[in-house]
Amino acid sequence: MRLAGRNALITGAARGIGRAFAEAYAREGAQVAICDVDWQGAKTTADEIAGTIPIYLDVTDQASIDAAVGMVAAELGSVDILVNNAALFDLAPIVDITRRSYDTLFAINVSGVLFTMQAVARQMIAQGRGGKIINMASQAGRRGEPLVAVYCATKAAVISLTQSAGLDLIKYGINVNAIAPGVVDGAHWDGVDAKFAAAEGLPRGEKKRRVGASVPYGRMGVAEDLTGMAIFLATAEADYIVAQTYNVDGGNWMS
Ligand SMILES: NC(=O)c1ccc[n+]([C@@H]2O[C@H](COP(=O)([O-])OP(=O)(O)OC[C@H]3O[C@@H](n4cnc5c(N)ncnc54)[C@H](O)[C@@H]3O)[C@@H](O)[C@H]2O)c1
Repeated sequence: MRLAGRNALITGAARGIGRAFAEAYAREGAQVAICDVDWQGAKTTADEIAGTIPIYLDVTDQASIDAAVGMVAAELGSVDILVNNAALFDLAPIVDITRRSYDTLFAINVSGVLFTMQAVARQMIAQGRGGKIINMASQAGRRGEPLVAVYCATKAAVISLTQSAGLDLIKYGINVNAIAPGVVDGAHWDGVDAKFAAAEGLPRGEKKRRVGASVPYGRMGVAEDLTGMAIFLATAEADYIVAQTYNVDGGNWMS
């Protein structure tokens, strides 16, 4: 029960990694707001995990961010932990990238992270007892990839925002850090695999097989591989950790 008495807001928690974090946080005694633009998914997930509530949130919409943070604070009593987890993936060769894809990915993966972090930081400052903010970066933010320029750039921006916000907010006792996963199996990677299959002429499942085989640990990750770091960064044991991005990726990246 390492998070007993703490209230967490997790974006994009209807499924995947966010959902696994919600389960892990609830198991550790936190109350968790499952925030997602997929309202039906958020409700179903919250029904399935004791200690959680569903909250509609579109991280591309400032009014929705403000409303969601207000609702979580009102319904749970405070916001002590934010996991900025919602994101979208796309791929295209440089010569085929569209402004629409660029704008959508930056709106969710970068503006969404910044302005949700800002709204929650304001709430945490008003509460006056610090807090923990965890941004979901990626190994994609550590280096570019030929077909994944925009997504990689958004995740590099998350690492940079984590550094700046971490340095700015620590004076309020708010720790901002990030997790950089490698390749984590689930619905997200089913979509990634399908896009690579189309772009590289591979059979479905082949990209997954290749990326899994190349992980030093020997397999793709699962969401539960990340929960230990997500819990740790949300506890007082991580109070002295500021502005860092941790690779949790089976050895894919070293920094
Ligand atoms: N799965 C991986 O291999 C992997 C690797 C590295 C980093 N990550 C990062 O981890 C995080 C979670 O990944 P995942 O695999 O669980 O993804 P996912 O696609 O399974 O889940 C993303 C969630 O975000 C929600 N979402 C999308 N747009 C939103 C918006 N505008 N407002 C609110 N919610 C929105 C979706 O409805 C979905 O529930 C993401 O930041 C992702 O970039 C994932």
